[in-house]
Amino acid sequence: MLNVLKHPLITHKLTQLRRRETTTKDFREILDEIAGLMAYEITRDLPLKNITVETPLGKCNTQELAIDVVLVPVLRAGLGMVDGISNLIPTARVGHIGMYRDHDTLKPMTYYSKFPDNLADAIVMVLDPMLATGGSSSSAIQVLKDHGAKSIKLVCVVGAPEGVERIMKDHPDVQIYLSGIDEKLNEHGYIVPGLGDAGDRLFGTK
Ligand code: PRP
Ligand code: URA
Repeated sequence: MLNVLKHPLITHKLTQLRRRETTTKDFREILDEIAGLMAYEITRDLPLKNITVETPLGKCNTQELAIDVVLVPVLRAGLGMVDGISNLIPTARVGHIGMYRDHDTLKPMTYYSKFPDNLADAIVMVLDPMLATGGSSSSAIQVLKDHGAKSIKLVCVVGAPEGVERIMKDHPDVQIYLSGIDEKLNEHGYIVPGLGDAGDRLFGTK
């Protein structure tokens, strides 16, 4: 299912990310901030368990998170979303998947993967700012399922209709979260109007 998060702060920050003149330093900071704001919305349904703690004044029957969260950034650009979310969920473990799109075929090529144990018992959040053709996210999700992941949320900042359709077809069980959905892909597979090449803008390459 597709969820477009329309919180005004998220929308405002997405506008800043889109601006051509936004510097690498600002792009990095704002991407992390958006990721944190998105995580706040996305984690509304995380399960809690009852526990008792001692306050300075006595016993308190309260609750804490009952499930592990695993963040899986898709390298490179997904790295820019990790800190913003792990600041909110410091216990989150982090796996990595390295993937790039072949420039001619636009097919994703996987060059690295390393995940924490027990993915089956965790909520796994796949992080990638861009959902363009959907090839990279779909492959990343498949690799995670092959490693046992059962509950997967795909967290992207900007999506194209083609990418959303691809994920819904390949992985109907996965919740998709976006800050914005754009018009189309251009002939090079870039999201229009989008925000450009997220990895290059984040790391100052090119
Ligand atoms: C970008 C982006 C996604 C992918 C999206 O990565 O960060 O991973 O493209 O495109 P898709 O939906 O059509 O697969 P890129 O391949 O440019 O690699 P990079 O992050 O290392 O620059
Ligand atoms: N990857 C990006 O970084 N940007 C796009 O618009 C599409 C793929």
